[in-house]
Amino acid sequence: MTTRIGVLASGTGTNFVALCDAQARGELAPGEIVTLICNRPGAPVIERAQERGIEAVVIPHRGYPSREAFDQALVDALRERNVEIVVLAGFMRILTAVFVEAFPLRIINLHPALLPSFAGTDGIGDALDYGVKVTGVTVHFIDTGVDTGPIILQEAVKIAEGEGRETLEPRVHAVEHRILPRAVQLVAAGKTRVEGRRVIIEN
Ligand code: GAR
Repeated sequence: MTTRIGVLASGTGTNFVALCDAQARGELAPGEIVTLICNRPGAPVIERAQERGIEAVVIPHRGYPSREAFDQALVDALRERNVEIVVLAGFMRILTAVFVEAFPLRIINLHPALLPSFAGTDGIGDALDYGVKVTGVTVHFIDTGVDTGPIILQEAVKIAEGEGRETLEPRVHAVEHRILPRAVQLVAAGKTRVEGRRVIIEN
């Protein structure tokens, strides 16, 4: 039995590629990526999917009169494909309750900071601007808040003296590429249990 995974992404897609690479190595099982949905026509992630023989569906958010209508279109596309777990891999849209309630505790998000610090669209830049000495990566379940759901995995990244975005960003991404597939595998294998805000990982 496989667990059908739908990935939502908006941009470059390095995390989507990391998920595909993990799958090719057998490290996502029983998870299986069945579709990529992208809200930006022409985004590089679309080609990344096509190169790997994974269906890429483009659903431009601009085509919908409201956030809810866009979210319903996403839900419909995922349901048509019997998707069980949704992974947001650099999906840069805020999702409404229409989407979140369709897949309760089945939507995994990736964020380039140690939540609850530096939520929002520029976790790396905001951490640098604030001057923190440690930042990191968070993989968490989505709830109806922005970047607020229960945390599955987190890993810290130390910021070196005087370090800028050019070197910090690739170091944060390297951690993302490692821990996102791990978190997805744990959820796909049913090894996570949510108790309030806590995600218990069972061995
Ligand atoms: C990743 O760094 C991810 O953490 C971030 O977008 C990037 C996508 O990169 N997501 C957010 O900031 C969500 N708020 P990718 O397209 O190369 O995977």
